[in-house]
Amino acid sequence: MSIRIAIRTLMLSVAASIALTGAALADGPPSKAEKILAYRKALYQVIVWNVGPMGAMAQDKAPFNAPEFELRAERVAELTPMLAESYSPESKGVENSKLKPEMWGNRADFDAKLKDLVDRSAALAEVAKTGDPAKTKAAFFSMADACKACHDKYKAD
Ligand code: HEC
Repeated sequence: MSIRIAIRTLMLSVAASIALTGAALADGPPSKAEKILAYRKALYQVIVWNVGPMGAMAQDKAPFNAPEFELRAERVAELTPMLAESYSPESKGVENSKLKPEMWGNRADFDAKLKDLVDRSAALAEVAKTGDPAKTKAAFFSMADACKACHDKYKAD
């Protein structure tokens, strides 16, 4: 490589890295609120991944598989208590969230709805261990009601 080309290549790469740094600075590192929101969404995504197949079995759209139901119910019961932290006040007002802002003025009601989910997912995990399809399905629908009760009031479409 001639010295002129080498210098030009070097200058181009310096220019490129300055441009990249500029872009990174403009976006900035994620704020605490953004990290909390990412954590919240990740939890819901893992929850719904496991709720989906349980829902299919509960609605007889898939054959009832007791060990699978038990495993997925256990996972969901482990995850639901982690949601509370994802609604810490530091996340208030974060962009790209579908949480209705009125939640912050109805905290006790919201927390009660979250507790319903935690309790019902724990109950489901217990019942699923029995392998009884009818009881397991009933406990599943009871948990799903807790999802819906909160979404109806606090989740924007
Ligand atoms: C106590 C209230 C509450 C309960 C209970 C609840 N959710 Fe939600 N959920 C929300 C809110 C609020 C959002 C919007 C979060 C945001 O965008 O900040 C949400 C968002 C979601 C999302 C979208 C996540 C994303 O990536 O944007 C999924 C999926 C979801 N919930 C599934 C469920 C399922 C399944 C259940 C029950 C097993 C459930 N939720 C129970 C309040 C609740």
